[in-house]
Amino acid sequence: MNFLKRLFSKQSRIPRVNIKQRFELIGRVGQGSMSKVWRARDYNTGKIVALKVLHKEKTEELEARFVGLNKPKEGEIAVQFHHPHIVKTFEHGITTDNEQFLVMEFIEGYSLSYLVEAQNEDMRTNCLKYMIQLGEAINYFHQENWIHRDICPRNIMVDNAHQLKLIDFGLVVPNTAAFLQPGNRTGTAAYMAPELIKRQKTSQKIDIFSFSVTCYEMLSKRLPWEAAETLDAVLQHINTPPENIQNLLPDLNPQVAEAIMKGLELYPQDRWQTMKAMLEPLKQAYQSSHEHLKESKAKPSATPSAKPQTATSKSTTSPPRKKKAGDQTTSQTKRSPHAEKRIKKNDAQDAPLKNDRPSPKKPKPKRKKPDENS
Ligand SMILES: Nc1ncnc2c1ncn2[C@@H]1O[C@H](COP(=O)(O)OP(=O)(O)OP(=O)(O)O)[C@@H](O)[C@H]1O
Ligand SMILES: [Mg+2]
Repeated sequence: MNFLKRLFSKQSRIPRVNIKQRFELIGRVGQGSMSKVWRARDYNTGKIVALKVLHKEKTEELEARFVGLNKPKEGEIAVQFHHPHIVKTFEHGITTDNEQFLVMEFIEGYSLSYLVEAQNEDMRTNCLKYMIQLGEAINYFHQENWIHRDICPRNIMVDNAHQLKLIDFGLVVPNTAAFLQPGNRTGTAAYMAPELIKRQKTSQKIDIFSFSVTCYEMLSKRLPWEAAETLDAVLQHINTPPENIQNLLPDLNPQVAEAIMKGLELYPQDRWQTMKAMLEPLKQAYQSSHEHLKESKAKPSATPSAKPQTATSKSTTSPPRKKKAGDQTTSQTKRSPHAEKRIKKNDAQDAPLKNDRPSPKKPKPKRKKPDENS
């Protein structure tokens, strides 16, 4: 019976591709927790592509969580996206070794994790622009009725033309009732919304939360809550209010600071209700910073060497964002992967998460509203 099922299943009708015959594997570019990624030449077209081959057992384990729900495969989902800030997937299929694979445009550039760590000229100049580009990608996702579930710098790249690209759709689920049920704590701990950690019902607002954590980190190089060893410890942290980013960066445009802090609200109903709504203040801040920039360029008295002011512009007279101790501008310091460790196990109660963030100096006050379910 099982044999017959397999024989007539959708998967058995997909032709198998011998990766080594079809592609010249030029070099490994990434080792995700779920896959291997190569820079490769497609012999069919002669083009350079990114070839992502999913780890068979880990993918089966992930898919088993959605058994009966008919969760589309990563490749099936990825080929549907057509957006300037989402990596293009040309093709997907199954290898002769029975692994899923995706063929994507190859992004020449950097991981956003690197830019967060480096806080270099590119990041200081373009931070708000990148935040908006990421927000636009998530907004597109949401309007197409998906939830990303794993927004974090590790899953975002910036190409050499300074365009941001969302790259990893391994945990994407449809935004339908069956996929919003409580229980499944997949994601990256430090970016996970409280309701996800507490195994409550989810919504697209979990992406708004992760986006806000990512923006906080892009601007300040810090997570709103210090990384913790276990998900229970993360739960404790999210019950305390995060440090207001405006305190860390007094020159940050208050509209941007308020937008991020609202995205980090404990309760989904207190957050931005849509990604589109959150994008508005960010876009306004971007526009006003550019108007100030034009004005200051027009005035001969303005400092000629002043850098374009973006997210950190309260006014044309604001000093540029202060450099913090530990900021890197030249060396390619790699960000510790521990802050972004993904929780893959269904029962991730005791999943170890290494802490690469300093402990807070003083205890923070508890959030006003009591925790419901911890
Ligand atoms: N289209 C691409 N162009 C260039 N490099 C890419 C591309 N896609 C992925 N990479 C590289 O491969 C790495 C892993 O890719 P990806 O995040 O999709 O894999 P993953 O196994 O799902 O990751 P994880 O589960 O650890 O988040 C990326 O961090 C990046 O360095
Ligand atoms: Mg990834």
